[in-house]
Amino acid sequence: MKSLTETACPLDLQQASEAAFLQAKTQKISASLSSESTVLDSSVSASANQNIYPAVASPISIEDEQIFEQIALDLLSKGYCVLPKALPLEICDALHFHMVNMPEYKFTEASIGRKLDNQQNAKIRNDEIAWINGESPAGQKWLQWTHALQMYLNRRLFLGLFSFESHFAHYAPGHFYKRHFDAFKGETNRILSLVTYLNPSWEAQMGGELQIYENTGDESGLKVLPEYGTLCVFLSEEFEHEVKPATAHRYSIAGWFRVNTSTAEKVDPPA
Ligand code: OGA
Ligand code: MN
Repeated sequence: MKSLTETACPLDLQQASEAAFLQAKTQKISASLSSESTVLDSSVSASANQNIYPAVASPISIEDEQIFEQIALDLLSKGYCVLPKALPLEICDALHFHMVNMPEYKFTEASIGRKLDNQQNAKIRNDEIAWINGESPAGQKWLQWTHALQMYLNRRLFLGLFSFESHFAHYAPGHFYKRHFDAFKGETNRILSLVTYLNPSWEAQMGGELQIYENTGDESGLKVLPEYGTLCVFLSEEFEHEVKPATAHRYSIAGWFRVNTSTAEKVDPPA
């Protein structure tokens, strides 16, 4: 194990200009995305989903550091990153065991945050979710790992990521989440979306792909199978995406890094 601080080096000029590029890209992207007709997932109420046990900083392994660096590089060059077997196996196993053993009452029907009734919501998504607040050892491991990623990306790319919220999602066979953005500029402060999968033996014919679209005209998209430990990270305001129906139960975790938009009048997240 090598600690992050031991390997820290000051950002050089090239890194600084890469980071400026990413920020400019994020701004340009978000300016071009406001469209009323598009589905937006803004279901998250910051106050309701705060982690009750704050993640503590812990040293990261060389393997994790390599993964974090790959995410940073892909975000800079493409705005998204898809990495198979990226989440450490020990964390996958803990989360998988925890999720499949969670009692049904812990899950609630997901909604999309617009003022829609349950029936309208169910036409857009019909998965069930449970927020991860760090009550369980598995949830804590996950929050520590994502916190380390948050710190790495902040240092490497100056993203100013301030908080993280995430939930387990269970898609029963045939269930889906139609094409949507996770964030729009002006409506939310979600910056980066992160998804990982907890399906130990997924096969292509089972379907259930996450389809990530490059732009609004893109109809084919990049297809990601929900395989154990695959990690997808993408700019929330840039990439529309959708979850295709599967023939088997599909387990995932979706999370969002947010920036702090507090002002003197409005504290974010609300107390
Ligand atoms: C979401 C989402 C993707 C997936 O929950 O917003 O897009 O593959 N999830 O589960
Ligand atoms: Mn989404």
